[in-house]
Amino acid sequence: MEENWRWLELAAVSLTVLVLALKLGMLLWWRPRKIEENFARQGIRGPPYRFFIGNVKELLLVPVVAQSITEMLDKWSVTMTSSGTDAIKIEVSEWFQSLTEDVITRTAFGSSYEDGKAIFGLQAQQMVIAAEAFQKVFIPGYRFLPTKRNIRCWKLDREIRMSFRKLIQRRRMADRMQQGNGAKDLLGLMMEASNQLGVNDIIEECKSFFFAGKQTTSNLLTWTTVLLAMHPQWQVQAREEVLRVCGSRDLPNKDDLVKLKMLSMIINESLRLYPTTIATIRRAKVDAELGGYMIPRGTEILIPILALHHDQAIWGNDVNEFNPARFSEGVARAAKHPVGFIPFGLGVRTCIGQNLAILQTKLTLSILLQRFSFRLAPTYQHAPTVLMFLYSQYGAPIIFQHLSTREMNEGS
Ligand code: HEM
Ligand SMILES: *[C@@H]1O[C@H](CO)[C@@H](O)[C@H](O)[C@H]1NC(C)=O
Repeated sequence: MEENWRWLELAAVSLTVLVLALKLGMLLWWRPRKIEENFARQGIRGPPYRFFIGNVKELLLVPVVAQSITEMLDKWSVTMTSSGTDAIKIEVSEWFQSLTEDVITRTAFGSSYEDGKAIFGLQAQQMVIAAEAFQKVFIPGYRFLPTKRNIRCWKLDREIRMSFRKLIQRRRMADRMQQGNGAKDLLGLMMEASNQLGVNDIIEECKSFFFAGKQTTSNLLTWTTVLLAMHPQWQVQAREEVLRVCGSRDLPNKDDLVKLKMLSMIINESLRLYPTTIATIRRAKVDAELGGYMIPRGTEILIPILALHHDQAIWGNDVNEFNPARFSEGVARAAKHPVGFIPFGLGVRTCIGQNLAILQTKLTLSILLQRFSFRLAPTYQHAPTVLMFLYSQYGAPIIFQHLSTREMNEGS
């Protein structure tokens, strides 16, 4: 009996890994490749799929992100005031999801924020359907059958494409009126390049941007907040740094963020213990040898980021402990292997959203630390789970308490 269960468990795990690999492959490999091919067909070669890198830096990210965070905190304030206390229980995993959605919408659509929000709303519905399907047994070909769920999904897809087309048309008109001084958001940048990039490509780019950015960044924020709530001594140190660098009231600016080293160590340790993307995939383009193994051309290799980050041989005896101090002399010194820490992948295909994700995380946490102290709610259950991304299965209820003026002054 016992053996049977083992076998079943193994089969279930293998199947899950396989499905996960397929899904991740679709997102991280197949999709960008299609765009690359598209470029190649038009005679554009060279830097492989690197459309956003560099471009993102042109955007005025800090004020854009700060606006989303401020709006979130305003909503918390309303609840606090109406309940008449200075402590409030917040389900951060939910709030951070809408925060991240908002940030991505602003960076992607900027001047067309409302339209963008509507489109991403449709896409979020589609993702819920996909996540539901993801939990079920994978049947090849099933997605082509006109089931109720599939029909709903197709409808959403059509609706998304139509809204995009309308939005791009409206933008083109507006641009013409402003004589080429169009908005500097991602959509604007993509449209400037639209002699190379068709409308469908733009749509696909926006979709993967939203998909790849939302769960990853919101989970990073959730895990880091949970870790700081679990380890008050680190929370205190992080707050001292924030208050020293930015004071207690002002919104941190770009230069402040660079100086927050303690916070950067904490975020890295959170990314090490709970890397939201637990694995990535590479396919061998030619026969190759890797660490003594022959890898035939075409072989796909799963790179287990999560396992690497929990390898005692690389991280030492305290591998499972939360110890941001291991990053005190930078990433290279933290691990016994130069690439033992790869939360954003490695090489020409590393994450293009890394800067945005880190910026949003730093800014959010520094603002929270400035204003509140926080601890786990008694109802918190620690259950890291993988459903495409590493997330907290029962959410993350956290109790936030407004810092008194005295506490804030002590820090500065
Ligand atoms: C904490 C946040 C994030 C984590 C941990 C993360 C992690 C990763 C990882 C591990 C990869 C695969 C890299 C590889 O295979 O070498 C990746 C790729 C990618 N990420 Fe992220 N990511 C995050 C945030 C974002 C954001 C905010 C965006 C966009 C707004 C984004 C967009 C992408 C895209 C488009 C790719 C595919 C790049 C390519 O194939 O060239 N990611 N990410
Ligand atoms: C955290 O990791 C990133 C790379 O992911 C690195 O650029 C940064 O310097 C690290 N910060 C610290 C304090 O180790």
